[in-house]
Amino acid sequence: MTSDQAGPVDGSARTQPGGRAGADGGVPVVSVEGITKHFGSVQALRGVDLEVHAGEVVGLVGDNGAGKSTLVNILSGGYQPNSGTIRVDGQRVSFSSSLDARRMGIETVYQDLALAPDLSVWANIFLGREELVKGPLRHVGWLNRRSMIASAEKDLERTRIRIGSVGSVAGRLSGGQRQAIAVGRAVAWGSRVILMDEPTAALGVEQQERVGELVATVASQGVPVLLISHNLPQVYRICDRVVVLFQGQVVANLRPSECSLDDIVSWITGAALGGRP
Ligand SMILES: Nc1ncnc2c1ncn2[C@@H]1O[C@H](COP(=O)(O)OP(=O)(O)OP(=O)(O)O)[C@@H](O)[C@H]1O
Ligand SMILES: [Mg+2]
Repeated sequence: MTSDQAGPVDGSARTQPGGRAGADGGVPVVSVEGITKHFGSVQALRGVDLEVHAGEVVGLVGDNGAGKSTLVNILSGGYQPNSGTIRVDGQRVSFSSSLDARRMGIETVYQDLALAPDLSVWANIFLGREELVKGPLRHVGWLNRRSMIASAEKDLERTRIRIGSVGSVAGRLSGGQRQAIAVGRAVAWGSRVILMDEPTAALGVEQQERVGELVATVASQGVPVLLISHNLPQVYRICDRVVVLFQGQVVANLRPSECSLDDIVSWITGAALGGRP
C-alpha cells in the first residue's frame, strides 16, 4: 500500500538476486549474512547469518544478552551493523533509520507497541500514513476519515481478533487487542516481514495464545514472522524453524518437527555445544 517503497541501495536488478536459495528453493524475503555489532568492548553479534522465507514463522531464541534484540534492531533500521549484509528479496539494502526499514516492508512489533493511547484504533492503524482527500485548491487536503475507517475494519478482520469498534480508544484495550492492532497495522501496510520482539512478555495466558494464533494467521497469508520469545513451549508449537543465538552467534537452526523442546533448551544454555564455541 505504500507508494514510496525505498529501492535497493546497490541498484542491482531483480534478475540478479544475491540471496541464497532456501529450503523451499526461493529467495529469502529477508536475509542477513555475517552481521557483527559491538557496543564498545561488548561484542553483541559475531557474524550472524539468518534467512526468513515467505510464509515462515521463525523463532529467534537465546538466553538474556544473546543478541536477539540487537539483531532485530539492525533488521528494523534502529542500529547499523559494524559489518555484514542485509538483503530484502535478494537485494542488498542498508537502513539509516527505522523509517527506511518500514519502507522496505519490515515492520516491527515491540512489547510497548508504540500505539498512541489517546487515538482511536483506526487512527492508530493509519498513524503517520494518513490518507488525504484533495481540497478544492488541490494544495490543501483533509483526512479521508470514512475510507480509513473502512480499510481499518478490513485490515483487522484479517487478524481475526475482535476489537469491537475501530472507533475505540486504543488506550482502553487489552494487551492482546493492542497486539492485534499493531500486527493489523503491519499487515495493512503490505509488510514483507513482521519482526516481533517479545510480544507476549507482559500478556496473560489467554492473550499469549491469541498472539500465537495471530502469528499463524499472518504467516498463512504469506507474510513471514520472526518471533523473539522466551515462551519456549509456544515457540516450539507455532514456529516452523527455530534459530538459537548463543553469545552473539547462531549455534543451531532447528525444526520443531524434528527435535524436542529439550533439544532447543540445551542449545540455548550452551549444554549442546559440549565445550564449544
Ligand atoms: N545499546 C547498547 N549499549 C551497550 N550494550 C548493549 C546495548 N544493547 C545491547 N547491548 C549488549 O549487547 C548484548 C546483547 O544484548 P541484546 O539486548 O541484543 O540481548 P537479547 O538477546 O535481546 O537479551 P534479552 O533476552 O535479555 O532481551 C548484551 O551484552 C547487552 O548488554
Ligand atoms: Mg531482548
